[in-house]
Amino acid sequence: MGLSFSDKIILAPMVRVGTLPMRLLALDYGADIVYCEELVDLKMLQCKRVVNEVLQTVDYVSPTERIVFQTCEREKGCVVFQMGTADAKRALAVAKLVENDVAAIDVNMGCPKEYSTKGGMGAALLSSPEKIEEVLKTLVNGISKPVTCKIRILPTVEETVSLVKMIEKTGVAAIAVHGRKKEERPQHPVHCDFIKAIAEAVSIPVIANGGSQEIIREFVDIEAFKSLTAASSVMLARAAMWNPSIFRREGILSINDVIHDYIRHAVHYDNHYTNTKYCLCQMLRDQLESSLGKKLHAAQSTKEICEIFGMTTFYESFTLSQEARRESLNIINQGTLEFDDKNEEIVDATQLPVKFEKKDYLPQITPKMVLLEWCRKEKLPQPVYQTVQRSLDRFFHSVVTVNEKKYCSFLWDKSKKLAEQAAAIVCLRTLGLPEGKIGEGESDLVHKRKRKMQYQKVGSGNLSEVPQTKKLHQEDDTTEGKDKES
Ligand code: FNR
Repeated sequence: MGLSFSDKIILAPMVRVGTLPMRLLALDYGADIVYCEELVDLKMLQCKRVVNEVLQTVDYVSPTERIVFQTCEREKGCVVFQMGTADAKRALAVAKLVENDVAAIDVNMGCPKEYSTKGGMGAALLSSPEKIEEVLKTLVNGISKPVTCKIRILPTVEETVSLVKMIEKTGVAAIAVHGRKKEERPQHPVHCDFIKAIAEAVSIPVIANGGSQEIIREFVDIEAFKSLTAASSVMLARAAMWNPSIFRREGILSINDVIHDYIRHAVHYDNHYTNTKYCLCQMLRDQLESSLGKKLHAAQSTKEICEIFGMTTFYESFTLSQEARRESLNIINQGTLEFDDKNEEIVDATQLPVKFEKKDYLPQITPKMVLLEWCRKEKLPQPVYQTVQRSLDRFFHSVVTVNEKKYCSFLWDKSKKLAEQAAAIVCLRTLGLPEGKIGEGESDLVHKRKRKMQYQKVGSGNLSEVPQTKKLHQEDDTTEGKDKES
């Protein structure tokens, strides 16, 4: 049986906010259904579907390796995929692409922002009832999951009710109504009377939306909004963005607790730190000028975000357990680097457990640049990077060749750029050269030269610092330009 939209409390679609960690948090706190952010049909059609076995997610990945939509088993029965479209054929193609990973498909017909209305999508659809009919009928007839749409109200109750009656006839499972006209802003009062008239005129579930701040400030207000609008269900956007624990029947939590819960999901699903930052800034909106807010604003990685909120121990232990999981999945060595049985050329490479930390370098002096500069000075051919990507989590590994010798990190990285920087660091460190790190002084240099001497005595000293030579495969099939995170 398909997802029912009767008597539900729902997380609204929100661009940038409605990514996987927020949706899971809303479910933890008691939301029944969660909508993803609006995703435009053309963008989705460029994506490939990949299963990430480490994170246990299904990712829709763009040609530039960016994750456009990420979902997991936990939300499969209650996540609604919202698309931006103005074309029935494209809409159906996207719906078919994601159909088996989501509970329902929604079409955005209410967003007044330019990114949505250009190309006739979002609220622009409200002035093309024939287009609405065509898109919705095509979806309803073409897929096996329920189809819904989300609209804004028209200038009069009569016009809105007439539009909604037409929409009902297309066979949609429910309709979400944001009780504002397309030119109205969030500070304008929500028109509960319009939603009520709609709810009384149709027999499909009507989902009332638009009550945040003015009516809904805590859980009990959700019921009040529902009564005012006579709707079957209620959908929350801003109230949930500011404090997702609004979904808790037991009462709202302090924003500090909520932030911790959010970060746990963000780390668990390897959410891009810029998205995590954006969502946390919405939750901390009153404190953005405080020292905490400023630190958050300056954060450059998930690790730094964890440090700011006192979650370093969690971050470290989770990262360790994730590494152990990678190993147990036996993928550490599956990056097409070690197929001796293929009889291809096998090379030796010096390896160190190195990761490139962006914050430790100036943008204009990265290890790759330092290495290139050094090669030029020494009149050596410029460094050559061979980078591969493994399928199980789409992580990258790079081997750099300098002066006919190969260097690489043991560790795999999220992006091609990071993997190459790590390889450059291994080379510079092994050769006892400066790496270009901020604050790297004369004493560091001396230290590195000493370390170089230690490296040569393999077997002595700290194990993690002793370069270990490993059989590596020369791989022709590099994945140029496939960064997941840049
Ligand atoms: C939105 N809204 C929105 N609506 C939609 O259909 N698709 C979308 O992707 C977005 N994106 C979005 C981002 C952000 C940051 C906000 C605040 C809002 C509109 C949203 O779903 C809702 O209709 C309105 O915010 C009104 O509901 P509330 O906020 O009063 O609960």
